[in-house]
Amino acid sequence: MTTSQILRKCLFPAAGYGTRFLPATKAMPKEMMPIVNKPLIQYGVEEALEAGMTDMAIVTGRGKRALEDHFDVNFELEAQIQGTDKETYLDGIRGIMQEASFTYTRQKSMRGLGDAILTAENMIGDEAFAVVLADDLCVHDGPGVLSQMLELYRQFRCSIVAIMEVPEGETHKYGVIAGEPLKDDLYRIERMVEKPAPGQEPSRLAIIGRYVLTPDIFDILRTTPLGRNGELQITDALAEQARRGCVLAYRFKGRRFDCGSIDGYVEATNYCYQKNQGSS
Ligand code: G1P
Repeated sequence: MTTSQILRKCLFPAAGYGTRFLPATKAMPKEMMPIVNKPLIQYGVEEALEAGMTDMAIVTGRGKRALEDHFDVNFELEAQIQGTDKETYLDGIRGIMQEASFTYTRQKSMRGLGDAILTAENMIGDEAFAVVLADDLCVHDGPGVLSQMLELYRQFRCSIVAIMEVPEGETHKYGVIAGEPLKDDLYRIERMVEKPAPGQEPSRLAIIGRYVLTPDIFDILRTTPLGRNGELQITDALAEQARRGCVLAYRFKGRRFDCGSIDGYVEATNYCYQKNQGSS
């Protein structure tokens, strides 16, 4: 079995409001914010496709219709530019639409990332899947973060979270892990805390928005008590999964931009702009 056949489905929780980008996100989903000329979600979908996943499952909410329209044909526009040199601008997105299928469901209320993932159960079923938080834009000159994680999943067949070391004083923004080092860049998780209060962090190893989850996570989520901010936290469910068996944390190769913050968004934009200049 090749790596690409092991995981087919990639889940994109995309119901959040994006309040930090108001007023830009008042009528536009935050996942549609462009980094140069591509919306954030498209970078995530491209990363999933590169890792061989073709079934994109997107959890949306009210006001998120633009996401569905983006991954669909726009007849009027396409008829208008057909045969002109502008048509090439659509090559990338047309390729994605050919390779990938898209399924959508709506999260009824904002009850946290764990709840968003549980909402997707009917789209995922009884198989392992990946999760991408599109706010976290990840880049790497070699294989993307999801490809790297799939390779590990092939070996270990358990849930895996991507982590990075964050500076002191930043851990309260993340799920933070403590674990036993297994080999280079790989830990077996012993503890996980969602957004620890300053001084309470078990380490400086923070989870970023890439997960591979085994489907037993759904049953665990159903019985996980509400956690930080009164929300159902995937971090808490993963901590339980780690207690029952094994969850790995992988310090990925590459760079991550926090596009949920203005600073990270601008950094990502500059990075991608420079990169595009270099390749054109
Ligand atoms: C979510 C997760 C958190 C993780 C973070 C990565 O938090 O709950 O564990 O560290 O994504 O971006 P959010 O940023 O949605 O508050």
